[in-house]
Amino acid sequence: MTTASLSDPKTASKRIFNFSAGPAILPEEVLHQAQQDIWNIAGSGIGIMEHSHRGPVFDRVIEEAEADCRKLGNISDDYEVLFLQGGATMQFAMIPMNFLREGHVADYPDTGVWTTKAIKEARLFGNVNVAFEGKDHNYDHTPSDAELNLSSDAVYLHYCSNNTIYGTRYNTPPQTNAPLVCDASSEMYSRPIDVNKHAIIYAGAQKNLGPAGVALVIIRKDMVERGRDDLPSMLSYAKHAKQGSRLNTPPTFGIYIMGQVFKWLLNSGGLSGIEQRNNEKAKLIYDVIDAGDFYRGVSRADCRSVMNVSFRTPSEELDRKFLTEAAQHDMDGLKGHRDAGGLRASIYNAFPKKGCEALAQFMTEFARKNG
Ligand SMILES: Cc1ncc(COP(=O)(O)O)c(C=O)c1O
Repeated sequence: MTTASLSDPKTASKRIFNFSAGPAILPEEVLHQAQQDIWNIAGSGIGIMEHSHRGPVFDRVIEEAEADCRKLGNISDDYEVLFLQGGATMQFAMIPMNFLREGHVADYPDTGVWTTKAIKEARLFGNVNVAFEGKDHNYDHTPSDAELNLSSDAVYLHYCSNNTIYGTRYNTPPQTNAPLVCDASSEMYSRPIDVNKHAIIYAGAQKNLGPAGVALVIIRKDMVERGRDDLPSMLSYAKHAKQGSRLNTPPTFGIYIMGQVFKWLLNSGGLSGIEQRNNEKAKLIYDVIDAGDFYRGVSRADCRSVMNVSFRTPSEELDRKFLTEAAQHDMDGLKGHRDAGGLRASIYNAFPKKGCEALAQFMTEFARKNG
């Protein structure tokens, strides 16, 4: 594709329904504000991406982002809020690198592709107890506490609160005496979260929080202190915390957008407000799946994700037809992940209810014509 076709003025004003799993839709208000601030932020005559990461304007950006993040999640001073690079995948490595030593064991319920990858990274540093084998159930659910096979001396338990690919989620965090570590990448701040139950919560930004290139890490201060002290600086939570996420040049634009998303969330009723809207949106689509035999949900009904609705039509051929026709109705990003196949509607915080209504209507009509 040439640069000219990437920025075609004839189509520049049109937006369609974007069901992408990530990078994903951002709130319209945030995008409009960013358009202004890319040019000139806070009357400084300089755009947000052009400001020094150590200057007063960026000081304000990162301080407000952290304060709003704390307000939203009711995060106490016992925790550090960090903005790091390397996405959620870097956290798959940084966590065991800091806390899992040789001879130690950590509990990892395996609920899909992302936890499998996290387990692989952890095994480079210590022992992993796979506390639940989701593969045996085609990853159709997250484990109840009774299904978890925990070790008595785990240095932490790592779980993924929302499984982006299969569309399953934990309704409540797993019960354990070990420090609880959560990959919340695909549902961060989509519902209230009890930070105090956790030692670490992390999320790649590109689904619910901002653009790709930054990860939010909320980490209890005693964990920060417990991390290995012989690591390269960029892999040490303690060093990042000491420098206020500015150990090197941070992803300034990503942090700015995340800050704007936090403000948008605070202005939209906070986490209980967004949870209610998310539940209403997801129900519109699950109701169509449940209404007949045409669609099959991937997740068991009792642990369905409110962010990623994974489903199938009766055949792969019909899945393909569904995608082609959905595109003709201005709906994009509905193809399932290559590991799960089928179809998936990712309906993150910023995804509008009218897009869910449009999809539900399209699905009903498609089932009527092809059933
Ligand atoms: C639940 C979950 N964890 C981790 C990742 C990996 O994130 P990143 O690409 O930021 O490393 C993803 C990406 O889709 C995800 O959905």
